[in-house]
Amino acid sequence: MYSKGHQIEQNISAEKLVRWFDNPPDRKGTHTFKWDYNLAKFGREDVIPLWIADMDFAVAEEITEALKARTEHPVYGYSYRTKSYTEAILGWLDKRHNWQLNASQLLFYPPGTVAAIHTLVNLFSEVTDEIIVQTPSYPPLTNIVRETGRQLIENPLILKDNEYVMDFKHLEGCFTSKTKLLILCSPHNPTGRVWRESELEKLASLCKQHNVMVISDEVHADLLLEDGQHCHFNRINTDKRGAAVTLISACKTFNIAALPQSTLICDDKNIRQIVKHAIDTSHLNLDGVFSATAAQAGYIHGEIWLNHLLFYISRNRDRLKNFIDKFMPQVVLVEAQGTYLAWLDFRQLKLSQVELSNIFVFQAGVGLYDGCLFGEEGNGFFRVNLACSQKLLLEAFHNIHQALKSKGAV
Ligand SMILES: Cc1ncc(COP(=O)(O)O)c(C=O)c1O
Repeated sequence: MYSKGHQIEQNISAEKLVRWFDNPPDRKGTHTFKWDYNLAKFGREDVIPLWIADMDFAVAEEITEALKARTEHPVYGYSYRTKSYTEAILGWLDKRHNWQLNASQLLFYPPGTVAAIHTLVNLFSEVTDEIIVQTPSYPPLTNIVRETGRQLIENPLILKDNEYVMDFKHLEGCFTSKTKLLILCSPHNPTGRVWRESELEKLASLCKQHNVMVISDEVHADLLLEDGQHCHFNRINTDKRGAAVTLISACKTFNIAALPQSTLICDDKNIRQIVKHAIDTSHLNLDGVFSATAAQAGYIHGEIWLNHLLFYISRNRDRLKNFIDKFMPQVVLVEAQGTYLAWLDFRQLKLSQVELSNIFVFQAGVGLYDGCLFGEEGNGFFRVNLACSQKLLLEAFHNIHQALKSKGAV
């Protein structure tokens, strides 16, 4: 659980916090999509990139130290999952989320969360089966459904009083005898909604009623920007839900996306057996030495860094909101309680998505994530990555404001 009361901990000074997050390292030349892919992505080298979801900030020092220590041994042979890594994950779930699990309920998928969901879809549905996804959606989730030959059934979220809510009435009409899975994103990318337990219970009960298994992508579970608790789907009592797998990851939490790994949490022995068989037979029961080292260090030592990060991100979000409210009141920043993403509604400007995109890229020099890539409901929206220095964020939005103003749009 994240509580604002825990934001500033004794052993990191406010000054260090500001230095750490206000002055992130220069990432250019490190082959990152965010900083070294502008020309291919936007047709222009020098845009301020605020699209793909990784952070500009240096990781917690303990992660770097752990990686350095591991390189002191010059052999990187086949490695198995250590007890200490498993215990680090269980310890994190206990202390951060007050969720007590045992090792037998966890499975590990070293290539990452999207790859794990791809495997789950292949294992628990057949070609032509139907899979429900709530849109707007993180694009890989809908892509997996389409590209594996399954039928994508969209249950669009409803934007109500500037907050997204699930459309249960529509959802009820989505289930057919061919519906096998629902892929949930919780907290939700791109809208930043942290689903309330009551909402998840309602979703769970509908899926149970229709015998539909839930794959719950919870890579943003640790990134709460308001006081409160994230409800892991598999935590819902089994009398209220059916088959389900919850996926968590250290990649988003500790900014180690290029050191992939994913943890699957499942209480159903049969499901675990099927997944384990797939993992073992595709040689995925080997751990990436550096991924495991970094994630373990994060789970054991990264909490203070994370608390400071969340403080910084929520401040970025609030400052961006103030800027928009003051200078571009026709643009709406959707209420988000989690993730480091902001979902911006430009529909009142009455400009097409292409016009908006051209203004952002070629006039303002800013690369945002085009909302249309998240589905039809994303038309008129753009996603912003808040995990950069406040200076860069405000510079980008100053440029956007000037560009929109010169067009008479704000
Ligand atoms: C909801 C969601 N799931 C999964 C991922 C990617 O996870 P991985 O890199 O472990 O595949 C992201 C990355 O942005 C995400 O937002």
